[in-house]
Amino acid sequence: MQENRIRIDSLEKYGVIPREELISLLSSYDDEDRAYAAQKARAISLRHFGNKVYFRGLIEISNYCKNDCYYCGIRKSNKNACRYRLTPEEILTCCRYGYEAGFRTFVLQGGEDLWWTDERVAALVSQIKENYPDCAVTLSLGEKDTESYRRLFAAGADRYLLRHETADQTHYGKLHPPELSLKNRKRCLEDLIEIGYQTGCGCMVGSPYQTCANLADDLLYMKKLHPQMIGIGPFIPHKDTPFRDFPAGKLEDTLFLLSLIRIMHPHVLLPATTALGTIQPDGREQGILAGANVVMPNISPEEARKRYLLYDRKVDAGADALKNQMLLQERIEAIGYEVVVSRGDYKEETEQ
Ligand code: 5AD
Repeated sequence: MQENRIRIDSLEKYGVIPREELISLLSSYDDEDRAYAAQKARAISLRHFGNKVYFRGLIEISNYCKNDCYYCGIRKSNKNACRYRLTPEEILTCCRYGYEAGFRTFVLQGGEDLWWTDERVAALVSQIKENYPDCAVTLSLGEKDTESYRRLFAAGADRYLLRHETADQTHYGKLHPPELSLKNRKRCLEDLIEIGYQTGCGCMVGSPYQTCANLADDLLYMKKLHPQMIGIGPFIPHKDTPFRDFPAGKLEDTLFLLSLIRIMHPHVLLPATTALGTIQPDGREQGILAGANVVMPNISPEEARKRYLLYDRKVDAGADALKNQMLLQERIEAIGYEVVVSRGDYKEETEQ
């Protein structure tokens, strides 16, 4: 559609377009518009990162969570979730295997688990940084107060992932129980940036009650926040949550959003997520071809991977981590990309 091409061109030229234009684009795009955006997005990625895809080693440290988000399989009310918590020693062992496999970024992700006090997380981060000074540590452990974020940064954490989930207050209220607020979520993200973390925000695509206006507001919020990383993936229902009967987010919508994000944020680190690989076998490859440049293979022990289930039928939940990683690497090379395991820090000005 001619109008949408013009909108995509403007997005590339100005980095943003008015809200009404974004809403029209999101509600009327077709396959050709999507291909047009993907081609632009891919060219931008190639210009800034070459044909490189950054690998991060994801370690799921605990599925205990004090929160009760309606979409999430590890919400506290899910009595069927089989809870586990890795010990610091087990996590260090994962890092050792990960390092040998070539990873130079470790992402520690978990539910908001009260056992993992600031003191314990800080000690773990210091230990990882001491053992592997050439590695980056990314935390993804949810909302904390300003002082806690400061303390973990001081212990050596380099990056923090905290999806904003949705930038619309009303929509936020439909996805979360009343004790959680968008205001606090945004405060956390602002703190993280202010403290000096390379920070990631993001949202699900096709989450229950989401509208095109919500997605437009997500894009505008991301633009304003100007994070170093943006994580998006399709919503996928989990059978033991209140959202069990909602449909999953669509592959095409997720790919289109990845392309729009790349066009709006040429330098951002943008993963092709596990959720994308779950709704479609070659979803992550398609994500890369739509402008993504990061993948996060799971290097958690098998028992943990089987239990860290945010949604149903998660890809790579079984089998051997190293085998999954090799297979993924081969598939990425098959589409003409090269896997890089270096730290891959955010750079506004890349030389490549
Ligand atoms: N489907 C897809 N993504 C989910 N997440 C949580 N539950 C689901 C689900 N059912 C995402 C959230 C969270 C991230 C760690 O995983 O966006 O921030």
